[in-house]
Amino acid sequence: MRVTSHGEMTTTAAFHSTVAVVGLGKIGLPLAVQFAQHGRRVIGCDINPLVIETINSGHAHVQEEPGIDEMVAQLVRDGALSATSDIADAVRQASVVVVIVPVIVDAERNVDLSSMTSATRMVGQGLQPGALVVYETTLPVGTTSGPLRQVLEETSGLTAGEDFFLAYSPERVSAGRIFRDLATYPKVVGGLGAADLDAAVSFYSAVLDAPIMQMQSTDDAEFVKLIETTYRDVNIALANEYARFADAHRLDVSAAIAAANTQPYSHIHEPGVGVGGHCIPVYPYFLINGDSGDIADTPTMTLPQRARQINDGMARYAIQRIEAEIGSLSGKAVLLLGVAYRANVRETAFTSALLLQDALRERGALVYSDDPLYNDEELSSLGFTPFRPELAGDVQAIIAQAAHRAYTSFDLRPFTACRVVLDGRHVLSQEQVEAAGMRYIRIGDGKVPVAAPVLIERR
Ligand SMILES: NC(=O)c1ccc[n+]([C@@H]2O[C@H](COP(=O)([O-])OP(=O)(O)OC[C@H]3O[C@@H](n4cnc5c(N)ncnc54)[C@H](O)[C@@H]3O)[C@@H](O)[C@H]2O)c1
Repeated sequence: MRVTSHGEMTTTAAFHSTVAVVGLGKIGLPLAVQFAQHGRRVIGCDINPLVIETINSGHAHVQEEPGIDEMVAQLVRDGALSATSDIADAVRQASVVVVIVPVIVDAERNVDLSSMTSATRMVGQGLQPGALVVYETTLPVGTTSGPLRQVLEETSGLTAGEDFFLAYSPERVSAGRIFRDLATYPKVVGGLGAADLDAAVSFYSAVLDAPIMQMQSTDDAEFVKLIETTYRDVNIALANEYARFADAHRLDVSAAIAAANTQPYSHIHEPGVGVGGHCIPVYPYFLINGDSGDIADTPTMTLPQRARQINDGMARYAIQRIEAEIGSLSGKAVLLLGVAYRANVRETAFTSALLLQDALRERGALVYSDDPLYNDEELSSLGFTPFRPELAGDVQAIIAQAAHRAYTSFDLRPFTACRVVLDGRHVLSQEQVEAAGMRYIRIGDGKVPVAAPVLIERR
């Protein structure tokens, strides 16, 4: 590594032990805590002043991780963790910079790198010779070695692989169990070159207890995360097609999948009313639409695209199942249980609840929503009409969209006009539903009324 003259002043002990974490969200804050607990002085950076204020006052704005509030309080008290909005200044003091700001897709499902590019510009402005920059955000293949490297070099005046180290390591954890995942999932790391990889491996070996998996390049490491997330979307799409097949042939898909999965090469997921969240329904588009421009002649991926269509089509299919039971939904009240994209999390990114609501409204239904994790004001601002108890007698169908703990004992007795309950996530008690005099159905249970036409959506 060539170190330029203005870098010599920064190679102090403080510089070597300081890590800047850029983006202090649901993943960035736990990462900052993890690094600080492993002897690093961590400066967290964010553009949200409230986040900075909360952390510097010794509190965690992220509540999903058990014990994180106490950990932040202790680390801030010890001077091991602080937060700032001055990214360049934090980076100037750090030998390692971990970037974990979101990359999203726009309405047309094209990859939007704007937040990442803006964070990278700030990183470049403070970047010191000899420092390591690692991107952990999920990225389209070629982004670290292409556009992000270019921004870093332009803003710092330094050359990646010569003056500073550049690496990519996907964050594979799930919110709510981050510290456990960090300790167990192998850490996949790729570098721009061999020295970059060594620098990243040496950092992660010191701050994580999990094994490290070394990849050939940053591109390879980026590809890993897209493979694992897209696999799940495609797998669920296959389960959903099996479910529709089961309905058409009056078979029970859950029992069949459970039996098939006793063969060690079969790992079929559960079918359902759709796939939500900021990962599984989003990252396939990083493969489909994510070409960063540096990889010529990228072959079109058809299977991930088809899987997206199938999974997004499950909301409409669920409505067809209900119509097969009670006829047209025009003017009828339907209750959605759960707007969150998955069980017991307060997060609605790409939730199937919106697709269900749209599909129901297309059929003229009046749609009310319930979610114990949101108050009425929050439900309204998310675009849902909050359910009120006095409406219970009007509701003619219920769809369980999120498997929140609270729904395992949901009281159905007030829903005196309700004839059918579609359990989209295996959360309700069939016994209780039937005891309340309602029909209990699931996607792929094969219990389509004999008189109903075979439910195959034509596209
Ligand atoms: N949330 C998950 O379950 C999960 C799991 C695995 C990986 N990831 C990866 O982590 C990334 C971040 O996810 P998250 O859940 O922590 O997001 P988040 O929305 O909770 O937090 C992102 C933080 O980045 C800050 N930010 C945005 N633009 C910035 C900028 N230009 N400079 C500095 N800070 C900026 C925001 O203010 C926010 O505090 C995702 O894009 C994904 O690639 C997330």
